[in-house]
Amino acid sequence: MPELTENTKELRIVGFLCNWCSYGGADTAGVGRFIQPTDLRIIRLPCSGRVNPLFIIKALMSGADGVLVSGCHPRDCHYAEGNFYARRRLEVFKHLLPVLGIDRRRFEYTWVSASEGPRWQKVVTDFTAQIHALGPAKFFADAPELDFLKAGEGVMQP
Ligand code: FES
Repeated sequence: MPELTENTKELRIVGFLCNWCSYGGADTAGVGRFIQPTDLRIIRLPCSGRVNPLFIIKALMSGADGVLVSGCHPRDCHYAEGNFYARRRLEVFKHLLPVLGIDRRRFEYTWVSASEGPRWQKVVTDFTAQIHALGPAKFFADAPELDFLKAGEGVMQP
């Protein structure tokens, strides 16, 4: 598990978690006092299927350095198919991020159940380390795929 040093500056990571599984998993990790980074700000939703990709764009436009979505494992969704819709939608969305000038490594989705405190600890620690390796986001202009635009040809400056 990657380690963050005590002096590492906290970044802004937004987590959209489904109420029934991943929020419970985060709670289980907290109750179990598992050590985890403090960069994540959790927004609780009824289901991962409720995550509109515009929520993610809005978070990134508002200054988030990374966004994590987590729901129930496939076939465990409390609304039967919400996470299947989420998986399909978010997988496509992830591949569109570079078109918007966003490095796709700044977004991740996963599944964590309410009993998986140790898994939650690993997910949040790994994703936070990945965001720290990327550093603070530079507003829609840090995608390697858009290097040719950074020369100043038609890219909007923040
Ligand atoms: Fe958790 Fe649907 S209720 S993903």
